[in-house]
Parts: sequence; C-alpha cells; structure tokens
Amino acid sequence: MTARVRLHVFLAHAGVASRRAAERLMREGRVQVNGETATAPGTTVDPARDRVTADGREVQVMTEVVVLAMNKPRGVLTAARDARGRRTVVGLLPEDLPRTVPVGRLDLQSEGLLLLTNDGELALRLSHPRYGVTKRYAVLPAQPVTAEQLRRLRGGVDIGEERPAAARTARRCGRPARHYAEGDWFEIELHEGRKHVVRRMCEAVGLRVLRLVRTAVDGVALSDLAPSQWRRLRAAEVEALRAACGLGAPASPRPVGGLPPPARGQAPDGGRGSGGSGPRIAIDGPAASGKTAIGSRVARALGLAFLDTGALYRAVTWWALRNHVPPEDRAGVAGLLRDLRLTVGTRPARDDPEALQTTVHIDGADATAHLRDRPVEAGVSLYSALPAVRRHLLALQRRFAARGAVLAGRDIGTVVLPDADVKVFLEAKLEVRRARRGETAAEQEERDRIDASRSAAPLRPAPDAVIIDTSSLTIGAVVSRVLDIVTERVS
Ligand code: DC
Repeated sequence: MTARVRLHVFLAHAGVASRRAAERLMREGRVQVNGETATAPGTTVDPARDRVTADGREVQVMTEVVVLAMNKPRGVLTAARDARGRRTVVGLLPEDLPRTVPVGRLDLQSEGLLLLTNDGELALRLSHPRYGVTKRYAVLPAQPVTAEQLRRLRGGVDIGEERPAAARTARRCGRPARHYAEGDWFEIELHEGRKHVVRRMCEAVGLRVLRLVRTAVDGVALSDLAPSQWRRLRAAEVEALRAACGLGAPASPRPVGGLPPPARGQAPDGGRGSGGSGPRIAIDGPAASGKTAIGSRVARALGLAFLDTGALYRAVTWWALRNHVPPEDRAGVAGLLRDLRLTVGTRPARDDPEALQTTVHIDGADATAHLRDRPVEAGVSLYSALPAVRRHLLALQRRFAARGAVLAGRDIGTVVLPDADVKVFLEAKLEVRRARRGETAAEQEERDRIDASRSAAPLRPAPDAVIIDTSSLTIGAVVSRVLDIVTERVS
C-alpha cells in the first residue's frame, strides 16, 4: 500500500516546472519513469520507489512524512474511493492535504482511531502482524461482560482458524471519550490484525457487539477527536511510530524520489550498513562562502542528492512572516511547525545553471521565489536561532541524507550529520563574501554575529572538518579539492 501522486504534480512539487508545463514535458516525451517514457496525462508515481527523470536528469523530491489520526465514524468505508459511491475516510479529508492512504482497515461499522499516511513503508509495517504493533479497542456489548468472558478473551479463544486469538489485556472501562454514550464498556488490547478479529473474539465468548471503537494504535491515542475529526501527528509521534516498527531515524532509508545512483568509487552501501547508497557530505560555512555553488556541483559530480538547508530556514521564515507570527511568539511558531507541510526539490539554479537550487513548497505554495526577499533576509537568523525550528528541521535533513547526499548549511558537520563521511567548512574574507551577496557590511556582520553566537547550533567548524578559504580560489578549484577529499575519505 503506497501513496501515489500524479506525475505532473510530482514534477511541479520538485520544482521542475509548473503543473501545466510539466504536462507539456510529458507530452513531448521528455519525462521517464523507471526508464520508460511517460506521456499519458493520468500517469501516477510512487515517490518512494519510482525513479523519475526529466530531460535525462533525475528528479529528486523529498516529501515530509505525514501521518494523520482520524476518528473514523461508523458507516464510512476505510478506502480512498468506492466504486459504489459510498462515503470513504479519504473523502473526509480536505483536498489540499498530501495524499495519504489508510493504515490497515477498520470495517464499515467499526469506528475510532484510523491512521493515514503518505509513507508507504510505514503503512505496510503498521498493519503487518510481524511488527506486532499494539492496538486498543473499546467495546460496548449488548449485555455486560462477565469476569469469565474477560478471562477467556485473555486466555485465547477459537475464532475458527488454526490459531486461537488472545488479547494482551481485557478489562472493564468507562466510555472511550465524551462523544460516546455511558455503558458497560470494556477494552481489549491486541497485537494482531486478522480480519474482524475483535468482533469474532467477542462472538466466540458469546458477546454481541453494539459498538466497537479503536482507541489507540501503539502510542497514539484517539483522545478527544470527535467522529470525522482528524489531526496531524507531531514529528515526535511520527518518529515513535516509525521506531515501533523498525524504521528508526536517522539511518533508515526514506522515500526520496528516485535513488541517487551510487557514487563513483563507492561501495554500494556507502560503507554505512544496509539502507545507505552513497556518502553523506557536509558543507558548512558562513553566508556567501560558496556552499551552494560548491556543494551542488560536488553533488552533481557524484550523482548525489543536494540540499541547501538554508532554503529550509528561509522557507520557514517566509511562512512565519506570511502568517504574521513573530519569532518571539514561541507558541505561535510551535503551532506553525506542527502544521507545516514542507516539500523540497531541486532544479538548476537560474543564475548559475551548473549549480542546483533547492526548491521549497509549503502547503503546496511555492516558497522558492521568496527565499531571498528582504524581510526573509532580515528575519532568517532570528527564526533559525529558535530551538523548536532547529529540532523540526533536523529530522527532515537527516532523512534527506539517509541514502547519501550533500547538505550545505551551518551545522551539518556538527549537529545534523556528526558522523558524515566528509566534512568541509568553507570560509571567505568578509569583503569577498559581501561582494558575492551584494549585502552591506553591517548586514553581513549582523547575520554572522547572530549565526555564530546563538546557543542552538552556532556556526562553527566541526573539529574534524577540512577548512577551505575560498576567497581567492575559483569554484572549479574548490570543487576539485572537495572531490579529492571525498575520494580520499570514502574509497
Ligand atoms: O545559507 P543561507 O545564507 O541561505 O542561510 C540563511 C540563514 O539560515 C542563515 O543566516 C542561518 C540559517 N541557517 C542555519 O541556521 N542553519 C543551517 N544549516 C542553514 C541556514
């Protein structure tokens, strides 16, 4: 079970072209999916698995893992759509959310907690018995449950299959939430997911079920969600769920649109055990030290994905300013981050076609064109000094790098990837940097001062970084220098 997206939308989110222009590229036969030219307008792709190229260049996007918790009402089908036109859970969600699929199944008359996600691997594992994810249900029986019936549910009952079904716990409880009537509710906890298993177990001990409400999946609880309501899980909840089914961050492979090809001279796993496919390279340095120009060329030379992490901090700043949330409003910033739906991609930079530019979409809105707006320039250091912002972007950056990538930023070698295969810290004289960016000396100094003095991840070279002063070197010279270091360190 995976979340597929339409190819032209995928291309648009990756910053390749607008949706309409992407459709044109497809019609012109310039887009390939797993090596096959894709011209059909309705073509869909699975960003986690398919390798998409446009004009022969790999399209890499990374979409944040989104997990939603919904209170599925009775009578609504656990499906994306229904041929007979019945109401479905996906139909209850707003259209502008990233496309998600239900995790497992709650049958038509059952209700309560249903998770939906765009992470195909997570969906698969959460519903697979092998990973033994615990699920809790509240049951309202037609007649009060007896102690003997609870004991039998715990001991294991015959449900007409080879293996009996046993509950981990079974005990009386109050109503699951205030949306439900008072009554003789009891709750049971199970590790398994056989079809209709709770109803069949209840029948086997002679109980007629009036209502069946799932109240928890692993550590995620239904809480006070009203029927049909949903919420987005916080990053920490998502990581906990992923960890519960063996998808631990940060070393796990993440759906990145298309695997970067193995780098030159690389062991297939990049020497980092299973899941890796290339080296992880940290390029840090102050503003205008050449991180993006150098980092993206290095990435291209090695066939690795590239991420300019400054673009992430800038995009968050743009979003906060657009929503009128100042950096002092911690609760407001936390709220923004909770609902942030951020997608990054790469495209050739406009002013330097040999370099790559990181594109960022938030809630489907293209932030890319605003990343260098004056108010963003002025505010970015303040927002990026907030620990909540750094924490939020940390997980994203690590997932991006999991299969090998070049990350350019301020704290990649020190905080984001302390075990990066290669760490480079670029420097340049103040006046050289000022000329490159067109900033005034005061602006530049102020930015450097805040970046270097903040308590969260201050700008400084990692102890094991190679420091290169780029002031009087050409881009080509620095790139060769970095490639030499990569060859030395990783072969
Ligand atoms: O690289 P840049 O100039 O686009 O970065 C803009 C700002 O983002 C910079 O002033 C500090 C912040 N930033 C950060 O704090 N950590 C990073 N890894 C990257 C950028």
